[in-house]
Amino acid sequence: MEFEEVLRKRHSCRAFKPDKVSKEDLQTIVDAAQLAPIAGADYSMTHLTVITDEKLLEEIDEKCSIPLKNGKVIKPLYGAPAMIVTSVTGPSKDNIEYSNVGCAIENMILEATNLGLGSVYLWGWTHKLRKQPELIEKFNLPEGYTIISAIAIGYKADDAIEDVAVDAPVEQKIAVDWME
Ligand SMILES: Cc1cc2nc3c(=O)[nH]c(=O)nc-3n(C[C@H](O)[C@H](O)[C@H](O)COP(=O)(O)O)c2cc1C
Repeated sequence: MEFEEVLRKRHSCRAFKPDKVSKEDLQTIVDAAQLAPIAGADYSMTHLTVITDEKLLEEIDEKCSIPLKNGKVIKPLYGAPAMIVTSVTGPSKDNIEYSNVGCAIENMILEATNLGLGSVYLWGWTHKLRKQPELIEKFNLPEGYTIISAIAIGYKADDAIEDVAVDAPVEQKIAVDWME
């Protein structure tokens, strides 16, 4: 795809087909993270965990689910067949690790779009995760790292609904001042 097409095609996907994502595609997505800008080129602050283990994905979807007032339950991974979890060392004084991870995640999401895959940035599930040390153990993180976010990846379900905000014209999303 042309870069501009990738930018405009990227949207958060919250319904996935059960079809697996190939290891080759996941590797290409991880490679995109390696190309992201990282403060001070200190790559040691960031760690990625690629999860395709069905049992673990189901467990995360269940144990980190969010019950809504209307009785519905949101599964944080939306049933995606793959997830890439970001963890970081710190916190540092200025929380720079959050920006590092944001850059890595955006590169991965754009690469997923380029490969024809759906994806979504995942933050909310970590609130539930933090209260479950036995689940955190299953991520086998290196010593000193804390999970802060993730992306879910998979093939977009035919009935996937995109955010209403997506319909807003591009120029009406983030306010921009020009000082010329
Ligand atoms: C830092 C961050 C955290 C997010 N966390 C979640 C999340 O936990 N679950 C979710 O469904 N979407 C999450 N999103 C996706 C946003 O809701 C989404 O990007 C926004 O609604 C705009 O829609 P679009 O991505 O389709 O353009 C997150 C996005 C960002 C940047």
